[in-house]
Parts: sequence; structure tokens; C-alpha cells
Amino acid sequence: MNNTVMKLEHTLTIALTKGRILKETLPLLAEVGITPQEDLDSSRKLIVATTVPNVSLVILRGSDVPTYVRHGAADLGIAGKDMLLEFGGEGIYEPLDLGIARCRLMTAGPASDSQNDGGRRRVRVATKFMNVARAHYARKGMHADLIKLYGSMELAPLMGLADEIVDIVDTGKTLAENGMAPRELIAEISSRLIVNKASMRTRHSSVQTLVEALTAAVNTAG
Ligand code: PRP
Repeated sequence: MNNTVMKLEHTLTIALTKGRILKETLPLLAEVGITPQEDLDSSRKLIVATTVPNVSLVILRGSDVPTYVRHGAADLGIAGKDMLLEFGGEGIYEPLDLGIARCRLMTAGPASDSQNDGGRRRVRVATKFMNVARAHYARKGMHADLIKLYGSMELAPLMGLADEIVDIVDTGKTLAENGMAPRELIAEISSRLIVNKASMRTRHSSVQTLVEALTAAVNTAG
């Protein structure tokens, strides 16, 4: 842990992704001297001050982090690469792979359905990653009827709603316990530090200090 308090010329707001990414983010932030002033497990506050006077945190759903950063409501963010692939990188720099919350974005289907896509040219796909899925099946020259879901994608083939899903696979336990098997890898996922392009210009020294400190912390952790 670095004991010198980071000195920043500008105020910075960092948008964090709640859940598993947050748990893996907090030790990295602590490494650069940024610790929330609230207990994030019990607090319901959405904007949280930190031990660095100029730095505050906002805690969001992963899908909202790129939006806050793109529009400059937050200067920086920590988001899964899956969210960046899905929502695009417009208006955003992605200077650092934090190497945390590693998982894979994959297609998956019933384990009993041994042939990958059964030679089908048309497939029903349940996912919350509509853009990623559309691009994936287009690359394969397949027509995909996409069905938008918001969670528990693994249920869809079991219930006859879809032939396949596009979802995050971490340990593979959820798939296995529901009689499903991974099929094709779409992308290796980890969390990334993202920066609003205008903030990079107008708050450059502060953003740069933070990016460099986090880069050093990631290299130490790695
Ligand atoms: C994610 C993902 C899978 C599960 C994979 O869900 O959607 O369901 O984790 O993890 P595993 O391979 O280790 O079993 P999450 O718990 O994030 O909730 P969600 O259904 O809201 O996406």
C-alpha cells in the first residue's frame, strides 16, 4: 500500500461497476491510496467521497458505466470489456487493462445438442449482449433471431425460448448445473480503466497521475 496521499490538480469522478468487479477494484484503488469514506457493503449512497480529497466514486450497474463516462458525467470508469464491446467505445479512451474480473464471452447451448450449431443457418439466441451477438452471428454468415433478456440466460434453452445463448462464462458452473455447455469463444474479458476524451484533455495532469498510479499497481499485482 502506498502511504503518500495522491495530489491532484482537478476533481475527478470515477464510475465503478458494482458486484464482482467492485470487489476486485477496491484493492487496486487502495493500492494507489483511494479508499471510499463509506462502507460500500452497508451504505446506500451512490456518490462516495474517498481518502483523496479530489476523488469521488459513483457506483453503477456495469451497463451504465460506459454511458456515464462517454457523456462526461464521470471522468473515468472501470468497466468490463463485455460492456465496452456491447456499448461501443465512442468518446472513451481505454488506457489500461486492469487484469481483474477475467472471464469469457461465449456462446453456449444444451450439452445434449452435441453438434455445435447443427449446421443451422438460422438460430434463436437469448442474450443481453444484443450488439455483440448480432456481430458474431453475422461474421459466421448465420441469421440470428435475437431475444433480449436481462439475466439468467442459461434458462432460455432449457425452456425452449432459444437454441443458444451469448453470455459471460466464468467458472462454467452455471452452465454445467443447467445441462449446458460452452460452444464458441467470442472474446476474453477483463475490466478496463476508461477515460472520457474531454476529461483527458481538460484534466490531463490529474487523469495522467491516476492512470500512471493504477498502471504501477496493476504491474505489481500482476
Ligand atoms: C454471470 C453470467 C452467468 C454466470 C457465469 O451472471 O451471466 O450467469 O455469471 O458464472 P460461472 O461461469 O462462474 O457460473 P451474474 O451472476 O453476473 O448475473 P446475471 O445473470 O445478472 O448476468
